Amino acid sequence: MLSKADNEALVRVAAGTPMGNLFRLYWMPFLPSSDLEADGQPQRVRLLGEDLVAFRGSDGVVGLVDHACPHRGAPMVLGRNEDCGLRCVYHGWKFDASGAILDMPAEPEGSRFKEKLKIKAYPCQERNGVIWTYMGADASAAPPLPNLEWNLVPVENVVVTFRVQECNWLQALEGEIDSAHAPILHGRVDTGGSIDKWVATRDLRPTFECAVQDFGVSIASRRIFDENTLYWRVNQFVMPFFTLVPPQSNYPELSGHAWVPIDDENTLCIMFSYHPNQPMYKKSRELFLEGHRGRETGHASRHAYKPASPMVPYAKYRTKYNFENGYGFDYESQQSTWFSGLPGLWVQDAACQSGVAPIYDRSQEHLGLSDSGITKTRRFLLENLRAYRDRSVMPKRMEDPDLYMVRAISIKLDKEASWTEMGGPYMKACVGKGFGYDL
Ligand code: FES
Ligand SMILES: [Fe+2]
Repeated sequence: MLSKADNEALVRVAAGTPMGNLFRLYWMPFLPSSDLEADGQPQRVRLLGEDLVAFRGSDGVVGLVDHACPHRGAPMVLGRNEDCGLRCVYHGWKFDASGAILDMPAEPEGSRFKEKLKIKAYPCQERNGVIWTYMGADASAAPPLPNLEWNLVPVENVVVTFRVQECNWLQALEGEIDSAHAPILHGRVDTGGSIDKWVATRDLRPTFECAVQDFGVSIASRRIFDENTLYWRVNQFVMPFFTLVPPQSNYPELSGHAWVPIDDENTLCIMFSYHPNQPMYKKSRELFLEGHRGRETGHASRHAYKPASPMVPYAKYRTKYNFENGYGFDYESQQSTWFSGLPGLWVQDAACQSGVAPIYDRSQEHLGLSDSGITKTRRFLLENLRAYRDRSVMPKRMEDPDLYMVRAISIKLDKEASWTEMGGPYMKACVGKGFGYDL
């Protein structure tokens, strides 16, 4: 449980809030590169509670600017994207990606008014099909783009999908560092299905151990594999909002999420799955993008989307499984087939995370031993938040791009072996390096 004050400190992300200020130290992924064509349609974005519009100019440069035109507040998502700038359709003011005003067609010839103003604009960078932005007040203070393995491997090795979830970023994130839920929530009540083959399902009462790292927290669950061997699954929380999940299928890949705060009550869930040293299995790619017989995997399939008005942030990434329709819950399926009665992995997670309130009051919860990863992660975040709020101390090594080169692992070790020591080398990511252990 958390005090109401600590809960509030962690969930609020607007400018000027302690967590909002901490997030503004980091680059944040927010859109696939393919969503923006040169001179193509601009896209509505909201990040950390700020309403924005993204566009790609004729020169290929991505701009991320205020959604409200600084003249008289017309919506910039309706702007004309032309000649390396976005032109407001109301009175024709035109802005470039840096926010500078290029034209004010209704003002007198020779007026210098446009030199005195700018539209709010944030710098963007692209890498391997993902656009990132830095929302700190001083763009010159931005650290280098973090090296995250999923965003460094060749694009054929990775699948990245986006969807909006109607709850606070931390509520969504906590679902992925809580590996105790996986074999239960995602299980079946009949027999068969790949989940029943997970080694994790053999023991529903794992023991948890955590290790605090410079990058975040390693959360290990320990299960008995046989007389002499323990099976360790180590999930990672990586600052400021990344989670990593270890491989576990016949088609092993590494997965995880960026839980990017849209505002206090909505999260952009960016899921990535990748193979570290070979193209993604064709079968897995297809499964992620298509789903399986109407069921979703951890990724939102193309069938899950229900696009909203282009005025709405991330209109393309709204889904048809939400609070309004009970997340597709089917009581009959709960009796006969799936433990949850919910149609697929991410939907099951989303329903549990968002189904009560977009911001849950954590002073009401009762944490058990299997929640120790969540407790440690909250503590880690609060310590960093307080250090920056009270003493302007930045999170440890946050400007080192390689700090983020981390993997989650699922490894069988001799029962006497230490998971941090023996597992340590496998937790280090290196582009082109295989898992390094038998799955
Ligand atoms: S409101 Fe945009 S140019 Fe007038
Ligand atoms: Fe889950």
